[in-house]
Amino acid sequence: MPLTPVNVEFTAKDTAKAVKRRDIIIVIDVLRCSSTMITALANGAKGIIPVETIKEAWAHRKEHPEFLLAGERRGLKPKGFDLGNSPFNFSSETVEGKQIILTTTSGTKAISSAKKGRKVLVGAFLNVEAVADAALKIAEKEQAGISIVLSGKMGRFSLEDFLCAGAIINSLSTKKVELSDAALAALLAFQQAREYLSAIVQRGSHARYLESIGFEEDVRFCSRINVFQVVPVLEGETMVPLNISRV
Ligand code: MLT
Repeated sequence: MPLTPVNVEFTAKDTAKAVKRRDIIIVIDVLRCSSTMITALANGAKGIIPVETIKEAWAHRKEHPEFLLAGERRGLKPKGFDLGNSPFNFSSETVEGKQIILTTTSGTKAISSAKKGRKVLVGAFLNVEAVADAALKIAEKEQAGISIVLSGKMGRFSLEDFLCAGAIINSLSTKKVELSDAALAALLAFQQAREYLSAIVQRGSHARYLESIGFEEDVRFCSRINVFQVVPVLEGETMVPLNISRV
């Protein structure tokens, strides 16, 4: 079997390149959009509709008053929303069996720009092994490459997303993949950082911002590796848990 090419795109605007290559795309926004999505689906949410703007979120809510409205601007819950973007808001008591409309500053935008991709998965430290296994299985079956897209913060590179890309690459079998230089750099950075991962993530600019507004527990929660097996996959407009046996 030919080796699967693995790329890393450093900012969300480069998603277009991954879409053009027809790669399997893994979108990462460790702090906190992708960690929140994984937590919500792991806690039994039926699906998550990622939307770019607050206006779009309200329009969806108008059509479906039974859906939960969630998200953040500047890290905080927008006025009138049911939930913010803290993974702790998405307990099973709150989300089980529910559909959620989610809008965040950078993460849901990156997912939207990947929408035309062959397959869009969501990754974070919380599901490193599961998302790596799923992406490789799909890529081998469809003879496609894998692109890991870092959402970053407002178009800028994010340390925690880069390290998470490295963690995912670290879970891929070296015998089965061929890494781009960017993918190799992410792998080497993760291998250097893994022993002190939480402390290193805390040094990043968005982690420091979240801590300054009272979300230090979120940063610690999102820095843990392989807590959940769930892999969100985009089906139409909605992220749902991937059924790996159907791949
Ligand atoms: C985003 O999508 O920009 C982030 O998830 C922001 C946040 O930490 O809530």
